[in-house]
Amino acid sequence: MTGIPRPPASEAAARERATSLREQIEQHDYRYYVLDDPLVSDADYDRLLRELRAIEAAYPALVDAASPSQRVAGTPAGGFAEMPHPVPMLSLDNAFDADDLRAFDRRLRDRLETTRISYVGEPKLDGLSVSLHYEDGVLVRAGTRGDGRTGEDITANVRTIRSVPLRLRGVAWPAVLDVRGEVVIRRRDFDSLNAQRLADGLRPFANPRNAAAGSLRQLDPRETARRPLTFFTFGVAEGAELQQASHHAVLEALRSWGFRVNDRVRTLADIESCLDYADSLLEQRDSLDYEIDGVVFKLDALEDRQRLGFTARAPRWAIAYKLPAREATTRVRGILASVGRTGVITPVADLEPVAVGGVTVSRATLHNLDELRRKDVRVGDTVMVRRAGDVIPEITSVVVDARPADAEPWQMPERCPVCDSDVLHIDGEVDYRCVGSLRCPAQLKESIRHFASRKAFDIEGLGERVAEQLVEAGLVTELADIFHLQQQDLLGLEGFAELSAANLLNGIARRRRIHLSRLLYGIGIPGVGEETARLLAEQTGNLDFLRQAPALLFSLMPAIGRTMAEEIRRFFADRANSESLDRLLEPLILDGLDGFSPDYAARLQPAELIAGFGFRGLGPKRAAQLAAKLDALTDLSDMPLQRYPLPSAEAERLQQAFQQRRQELAAVDACLRRFGLHWSDSCAEATLRRPRSEQELPLANKTFVLTGSLDGMTRDEAAALIQQRGGKVTGSVSGKTDYLVAGEAAGSKLEKARKLGVAVLDQAALERLLQTD
Ligand code: IVH
Repeated sequence: MTGIPRPPASEAAARERATSLREQIEQHDYRYYVLDDPLVSDADYDRLLRELRAIEAAYPALVDAASPSQRVAGTPAGGFAEMPHPVPMLSLDNAFDADDLRAFDRRLRDRLETTRISYVGEPKLDGLSVSLHYEDGVLVRAGTRGDGRTGEDITANVRTIRSVPLRLRGVAWPAVLDVRGEVVIRRRDFDSLNAQRLADGLRPFANPRNAAAGSLRQLDPRETARRPLTFFTFGVAEGAELQQASHHAVLEALRSWGFRVNDRVRTLADIESCLDYADSLLEQRDSLDYEIDGVVFKLDALEDRQRLGFTARAPRWAIAYKLPAREATTRVRGILASVGRTGVITPVADLEPVAVGGVTVSRATLHNLDELRRKDVRVGDTVMVRRAGDVIPEITSVVVDARPADAEPWQMPERCPVCDSDVLHIDGEVDYRCVGSLRCPAQLKESIRHFASRKAFDIEGLGERVAEQLVEAGLVTELADIFHLQQQDLLGLEGFAELSAANLLNGIARRRRIHLSRLLYGIGIPGVGEETARLLAEQTGNLDFLRQAPALLFSLMPAIGRTMAEEIRRFFADRANSESLDRLLEPLILDGLDGFSPDYAARLQPAELIAGFGFRGLGPKRAAQLAAKLDALTDLSDMPLQRYPLPSAEAERLQQAFQQRRQELAAVDACLRRFGLHWSDSCAEATLRRPRSEQELPLANKTFVLTGSLDGMTRDEAAALIQQRGGKVTGSVSGKTDYLVAGEAAGSKLEKARKLGVAVLDQAALERLLQTD
């Protein structure tokens, strides 16, 4: 990485450079945090900031509170000072249906003696209201709403929010300006924040609003700075001396001064357009990147607003149209152990039915035992239930005060509640599994349902209920049986008559001819979703190859990591699976057996294969050098050290690594031969694809520290995988560390990382990171 230039020798030059750097950084912040359209890489940005910090450290007189280097400044506070709002932060009156809205419009038209009123419609963001006070274009104070007249001074925390300009951009802002708006955490930021908290062993936040509230009320601004907060403005304090005649023009002015204005804000010609706007926003609710709890309609003409004035708590010229709440409280009647397709047992809460976001909810998944223990949900508890979009409702928290005295922690059953098989739990893993496999009716039912689902075999008429009937009647004991069902079998089932039975059998028969990708998805290989199934089919176009390939040959495919590759291999290597698959294949005609894709064939070249092992120091270049010396992969472990095109110490280390994997090398050799890829030919043809430049690699500029022991790989192997993707691995944790990978029995490094706020990844998180490209 390029070093940071030394601070200029003269103060005048330093001042000039600092000004230029500040302007550049402000511009980048604006592009990134307000426009979502970054201009430079994080690394370039960091360089600018580091250079500015270096200048400010050398010339303390040049430090300026509005400098981007000062976003995180100050020390933890003992509490928050009061902040009076000379112009109160008001609340809004509510409308709950179209009639309320029309009545609001009628009131306004009567008072203003006009026939039609134009409004501005805005999403009502579900976050925290804040007021920003600017003097001469510089942010001087920021406060919460409090009771509307006095809030808390949270200036130091608000300064850390990068979509809040420390200095206004553009022109023509008034000397004194109070900007009002909402601080939120956007959904994607919320998901990664919670993922990080889980990785750090912290309780995840129940929802973005709570997370935003908690973040703004941190006594240490450095903590707030780590939270992904975003500020959206929705106006200015009333009475501000602005040039604009309408609210939408005010918003445009705010936008030009560097604020983020919601891009779904619209001017609307009359109240009926407002209703349409509310409908369309409601429809989009789940695809928005932030949570909304309603829509706000505001009279657009500022002069008319003045004529209308305020009631004690709210302006007369605006109204909030509330959307149905998506959280509700209810009681847990029971906790069931539900057995899924792969045998994983999921605790599911049976709830007293409650309306949430417009539907009645009586079940909520608790995901797994860890999650259940973390939330400590017990039978009899009063809980908060939340529904976001189409996703399964979730319990977000327990009202512990309302817990009955005799409520006991829930226990995972020791035997499968459906088939009485053992429940297997591997130490350190999250899941508990019924080992009954397809002998377990619950797993069989779910497997049939999955097999017949739209993206798999797409068998019409074979849904959850029929799957259940087929299993209970003993007609289907494995997937292959589906293709051997007879008319009279079905007639014996409730709800089936001649026609419906014939329809189902036709539906099944139509799917005898099936594409390889659908077969791969339908048979339910653990972890293989629709995308991976399609990838496997496209790349290989050969089922026999898939059934015999060693894991390495899967992990050569883009987006398949080692864990998944091993899972696929294990599935096909399993005797019982293999026999069932043979029986299933008997009546089927497979499409998509088109042979290797050119892309995959290129990856089967020796150099790629060798690099695919991910050993440290074995990048594409060395792999190519090695490949040129080999007749077979097993040569890697067998050939004399001197033939390695490497310094002897490294050659020895590599050879040892290959010796440990000799079996796998032999299996790859054999598999490739079997499928017509002769090593000597491919060796001669070995072509290297252009390696990507360092900066294009997914982990470029990221620094990792590894500690503790990892499952199935040594730290060196993990380091190699990280380095292959452009990451750096160092020995000790510092402020420059991006990630600490903590395996089993991690010790002092983990502690230090926590102290420094370095992101901590467990092995699963690391593997996920390694899979992203
Ligand atoms: S206007 C005098 N616009 O809702 C007008 N408020 O229930 C005051 N809110 O405290 C607010 N999005 O925190 C307005 N687009 C929006 C809003 C919005 C969210 C919040 C705000 C306010 C509360 C009132």
